[in-house]
Amino acid sequence: MTTQQTPLIDSRPSYYITTPIYYVNDVPHIGHAYTTIAADVLARYHRLRGDEVFFLTGTDEHGQKVQQAAAKRGVAAQQHVDELVVRFEQLWKRLDISNDDFVRTTQQRHTAVVQDVLRRLQAQGELYRQSYEGWYCLPDERFWADDEVSEGKCPECGRPVERLSEQNYFFKMGRYRDRLVRHIETHHDFIRPEARRNEVLGFLAQPLGDLCISRPKARLPWGVPFPFDDAFVTYVWVDALVNYISIPGYGTDEARFARWWPADVHLVGKDILTTHAVYWSTLLMALGLDLPKTIYAHGWWTVNGEKMSKSRGNVVDPGDMVDDFGVDAFRYFVLREVPFGQDGDFSRNAFVSRYNSDLANDLGNLVSRTLTMIERYCESQIPQPGPDDDFEELVAAADREMGNSLRDFQFHRALQEIWTVVDRANRYIETSAPWALAKDQTARPHLDAVLYTLAETLRHIARLISPFMPQSARATFDSLGLADVPGGGPAKWGFLKAGHRIYKAPPLFPRIETSGGATGRSPLPISGRTTLQTPEPTATAQSAPQPFQIAIEDFAKIDLRVGKILAAERVPKSSKLLKLQVDLGTETRQVLAGIGTKYEPEALIGRLVAVVANLKPAKLMGLESQGMILAAGDREVASLIGFAESVQPGMKIK
Ligand code: MSP
Repeated sequence: MTTQQTPLIDSRPSYYITTPIYYVNDVPHIGHAYTTIAADVLARYHRLRGDEVFFLTGTDEHGQKVQQAAAKRGVAAQQHVDELVVRFEQLWKRLDISNDDFVRTTQQRHTAVVQDVLRRLQAQGELYRQSYEGWYCLPDERFWADDEVSEGKCPECGRPVERLSEQNYFFKMGRYRDRLVRHIETHHDFIRPEARRNEVLGFLAQPLGDLCISRPKARLPWGVPFPFDDAFVTYVWVDALVNYISIPGYGTDEARFARWWPADVHLVGKDILTTHAVYWSTLLMALGLDLPKTIYAHGWWTVNGEKMSKSRGNVVDPGDMVDDFGVDAFRYFVLREVPFGQDGDFSRNAFVSRYNSDLANDLGNLVSRTLTMIERYCESQIPQPGPDDDFEELVAAADREMGNSLRDFQFHRALQEIWTVVDRANRYIETSAPWALAKDQTARPHLDAVLYTLAETLRHIARLISPFMPQSARATFDSLGLADVPGGGPAKWGFLKAGHRIYKAPPLFPRIETSGGATGRSPLPISGRTTLQTPEPTATAQSAPQPFQIAIEDFAKIDLRVGKILAAERVPKSSKLLKLQVDLGTETRQVLAGIGTKYEPEALIGRLVAVVANLKPAKLMGLESQGMILAAGDREVASLIGFAESVQPGMKIK
């Protein structure tokens, strides 16, 4: 007898999430990024919980605007979309978007299903052909009735409409109105948030017409051809909406389709709620398919209080934000700043102040202070655990509340929940004062317990922020020596083991210095800049000015090393600058030093110097300097800092 191999059936809960598919012609902006980041956070969160996730995004590539843009460039429409789609694909990579598939409506796997859907609708008597005359808005690609248009303007976008009369196919949408109303009324989570649900019900209180779902090929050849009438292509919205079922296997892979459909959530912007809640839902009803569990409509971003538009020149490019502030900071900001579902305003000042307070001050400082103290007081090893001072409970509560908030699409609240832990941990450092405990031998177990609690709390914070800020979470896991542990370890308390090595890294979120309220644009990769993070002045510091002080943790951020000068030469056209090659033990760095009036290059060869090894590289006279040599002196250099006893290149200076 042979044993039959049972096919592996995934028994995990499934979670299918979609974004709108974006018009490929558009330049990707903060609005596109917003929905996609939100969907990514939910997808990552569900994967963390162990769900099997299908996260779909993509591009909408047919229609008149694409055809016209391609014609203007003098290229074929397909070539045009092939070139443009890259902007979206690349941006999603930069934004760490973890989509499982990327649909393009020009792909055969999609167009074949669009045709299949049309055939089914036709066979079921859901379509009819009729001559139609109306006002046509070219940019929106839709008809309006006489009573909807005033002064020749599109009621939706305000642009001029033109009179068109043509034969077209119609979908009998109107007949589904009552059923749709009942569905909305009996499925509370179907359209969210509540206010949007009421809007849709208001819309459905009016008579619901049928939907024109074709365009004559003679006028618009760039679309999915009607399978049973050569003279037509499919209306771009019907084509686009079908992506939600074509990609998970409708009509082609029934088992796979059954796994994913109905979708758990379609995330959309408020402007495209009607097309989803009404057109899409009624099409699904006609096909005999279940409706998605939730359609969530989020709000719109304005910029400095104004509508964002190309003509205003105020379009926020997510790529610029990533260049300037790092990917995680951007992901954090868009979801923390505005409650999901509401409109919000974007400004660089708001961005910088949230960055400095929440990321640099709260989270960034907590990470670096904790690691610095473990490095200093525990020789970079996780100490012995002790009483956790309620942090286990605090972390578990935040985990729970974060989950509840995410189930409710309240990303900002989920982040606030995590920050209750960040804040408590920062306060815990102040109240337990590890630096004081370190001076008292008998306090050793207490010091160990405090630092263990902080390290384990950091691990949990990294775990909780990981759907929002995957890179920062990974960097924190790396620092905690958990690079190889999937997801940074389990959700239960106490995973870090005493004796485990930690690794200090540059600050996650270096503070952004602002001058007079203006925010300069300086390149800032996720862990790139090494400006010192100075604490915000406290109330007492403000009322009684004191000499400027930094905390010991701030000083510890400077990586000071012994270096040996291997080569030195003058920088042409500069009396002061010398170009040095400095051995740092593990590598040789090029350092530019303004010491040329004091020293001849040859005299420096072999000399041991003090080097700031983690200074952000800078360019001087076109040459890169990868560190700084320390010297005494005011305006002029009096002496390089040297060493009285024997030292080796690479040794740490403390
Ligand atoms: N192609 C259609 C969607 C088809 S889905 C089957 C489309 N594409 S779009 O590129 O114009 O817009 C996509 C999304 O961007 C919409 O959800 C829209 O709400 C969103 N946004 C466009 N501008 C926005 C803001 N200023 N703010 C937030 N989101 C905005 O519509």
